[in-house]
Amino acid sequence: MGKLILGIESSCDETAAAVVEDGELIRGATVASQLDVHGKYGGVVPELASREHLRAIVPTVREAMLAARTNFAGLAAVAVTEGPGLVGSLLVGITYAKAISLAHKLPLIAVNHIEGHIHAVVMEHRRELEFPALALVVSGGHTHLFRIGEDWHYRLVGRTRDDAAGEAFDKVAKLLGFGYPGGPVIDQLAPFGDPSAVHFTSPNMKGNPRDFSFSGIKTAVRYWSEARAMSNEIAARRELLKTTPRPTVEQWQAVTPKTTLDLLASFQSAVVEDLLRRAGEAARETGARSMIVSGGVACNSGLRTAAAAKRFPFPVFFPQVELSTDNAVMIAAAAFPKLERGEFAGLTLKAKANLSLA
Ligand code: KG4
Ligand code: ZN
Repeated sequence: MGKLILGIESSCDETAAAVVEDGELIRGATVASQLDVHGKYGGVVPELASREHLRAIVPTVREAMLAARTNFAGLAAVAVTEGPGLVGSLLVGITYAKAISLAHKLPLIAVNHIEGHIHAVVMEHRRELEFPALALVVSGGHTHLFRIGEDWHYRLVGRTRDDAAGEAFDKVAKLLGFGYPGGPVIDQLAPFGDPSAVHFTSPNMKGNPRDFSFSGIKTAVRYWSEARAMSNEIAARRELLKTTPRPTVEQWQAVTPKTTLDLLASFQSAVVEDLLRRAGEAARETGARSMIVSGGVACNSGLRTAAAAKRFPFPVFFPQVELSTDNAVMIAAAAFPKLERGEFAGLTLKAKANLSLA
């Protein structure tokens, strides 16, 4: 048996715990989702999130430990997300991790959530990854491009100046009556629309052409929908959500005309093309020999298909779908090299809402 790390993640709206052996073998993993709590508000409500984390943290950790058939004495360390994220949410995970560390005399390891997303890919493809690598981290909170050097030095190459890509999916879905989170619904419905039906322009980013901006496309979708008097179909979808929290594709299609499916397909395709164009150019510029795509938006099937179709001159790695969105496996995996280097946090560890990676 190798070294077991218990990872804890509570930066946003998922309470997650996992036990990972030697940074790559998943021994037990649990994610308690708060979707049902926040769904009706159309986004994450920070106060409710911290309360739900408090409720879920102990049983979630217990479940992961049980699945891994281990106890605290069997662990080499406990790792926790220190940021970025919602301060009240982060604090729940950090406080519990400190308590475990203190009570069981285990080293405490602090992990950056964004580095966690990157390690969701590294843990599976360590042997195939070639450096320098370019990482595109796309989630509800972040859209970043990093160059990763041989020595694991991160350099920020580009980032969003306004909305994150996942946030754009969520805002467009909310606006059109598809509820929260928007990414999975748009992903499911986009294949039924024509991606070339509505033309969106990719913004010209002065200063750094590798930066992103998604607030323009969100506004363009709003103008498009306002010009077409879509209020009846939007109201029908909001009604559907009241009786059916998670409608099926067929149920959505029954309240979504073809023109709206075309709009969703065009929106998704524009976001995907924009992400891959800037990531591709950044990879060429930085001499990257492989690309990592991670974060909730990395679940997107349009993004996965388009990345393969681009035939980049280097391999592109995505995490398994379950490890693309927030989870604790990635936190335990990212902590392993820190355990090997003896990089431990003290009991003074604080939540860092705006922690950056580079
Ligand atoms: O990584 P994540 O779980 O949390 C953050 O760190 O933000 O990402 C959640 C985001 C949400 O914005 C959600 O709409 C988006 O990922 N997402 C998707 C898909 N699944 C989740 N976006 C596009 N297509 C998907 N299939
Ligand atoms: Zn995340």
